[in-house]
Amino acid sequence: MNPFSYGTIVKSPYFYDRSPECQRIVSTLSGGNNLVLFAPRRFGKTSLVFRAIEELEKMDYICVYFDFMPVYSRESFIEAYSKAILAKQSNLQRAVKSMASLVKGIRPKIVFDQSGKPEFSIDFTDDLISEKTLEDIIDLPEKMASEKKQIIIIFDEFQEINKLNGENFEKLLRSKIQHQQYVTYMFLGSRTHLLNDMFNNKTRAFYNAAMLMQLSALPENETIEFLKNRFALSNITIDDSTAVFLIEQAGNIPYYIQLLAAEVWQYLVSTTKDLNTDIIAICAEGIVDLKSDYYFELYDRQSSYQKKLLKSLLICGENVFSAEYAKRFRLSATSTTQKALLVLVENGIVEKVEKMYFIGDPFFKRFLSRYA
Ligand SMILES: Nc1ncnc2c1ncn2[C@@H]1O[C@H](COP(=O)(O)OP(=O)(O)O)[C@@H](O)[C@H]1O
Ligand SMILES: [Mg+2]
Repeated sequence: MNPFSYGTIVKSPYFYDRSPECQRIVSTLSGGNNLVLFAPRRFGKTSLVFRAIEELEKMDYICVYFDFMPVYSRESFIEAYSKAILAKQSNLQRAVKSMASLVKGIRPKIVFDQSGKPEFSIDFTDDLISEKTLEDIIDLPEKMASEKKQIIIIFDEFQEINKLNGENFEKLLRSKIQHQQYVTYMFLGSRTHLLNDMFNNKTRAFYNAAMLMQLSALPENETIEFLKNRFALSNITIDDSTAVFLIEQAGNIPYYIQLLAAEVWQYLVSTTKDLNTDIIAICAEGIVDLKSDYYFELYDRQSSYQKKLLKSLLICGENVFSAEYAKRFRLSATSTTQKALLVLVENGIVEKVEKMYFIGDPFFKRFLSRYA
């Protein structure tokens, strides 16, 4: 079995480090404070929060994890959110009953799937979802919690609430949760600029509603250790400088580190060669080849100015709005650059951490330096 994993959520032994961050999450939430965790995609937010959930559950908190990504309407939110809440109740029958009396406008019920397993489902009694139904759903955890049975709600990809008719929903959620006594919230998100605005902008509902925490890259020495140990399971040795090379090729992003390491492992098990930087480079090129159709299409979709910016970002991502930067890369007015960069960020191609802009996918970067 490949000793590396790069699906969505990774657990031990594929997960390493992050213990200070995990502790901070656990202590903040168990102290009753709301928390926002943000970092670009694939830095390991969801995996980390599942690690924290394990700890919190040991402390008897009920943790409800809810991902906003698949939500596309208020109905779909109500349906999926109530499912997530009820799934954590020990007595489903009783929970469905109390939900029926606590939430206006819906008829919760238990249906049986093909294998006879009970499942929760709801019908809406009216065509239009009323504000009241939404309010009741948001208050449901508080009604089901108690001093002894506190609930922690984790909203993943929280910036996606913008899809639910934006700020109205945000205001409603905020106004409800600030009165809840036994429920604490954690918000995760990848679109850092959207989340930042949501929690740091004085005019927004969630201004000051939670502590902010940013997730950075994994510490290099921990990653080196992890690579050594995982490769060692297949009797492959990797020295420090080769490990550092691998980390660099993967942009020091947890997901890409595991992806590249998995490819390298795959390559090596079928040969008897030693692991060196040439092999890592071959595997990195192999990943670009595999994805090149997608990368071509992605590149093609960008406006010519965006393409130009991508090329500049390959070389430098600092001070991108300065006059020197514009001169160096022959860019147009700052406002034009700002607009184009915003589109690239919105589309998830470019990430922004503090004032640095960078191409999120190190293999797309590699592709660009090959073709652009
Ligand atoms: N602490 C970690 N240790 C090892 N690998 C990790 C860790 N965190 C993330 N990863 C890698 O990154 C991938 C993406 O992690 P995920 O938690 O889904 O990130 P995010 O939620 O930030 O997009 C994981 O599948 C795994 O390969
Ligand atoms: Mg995630």
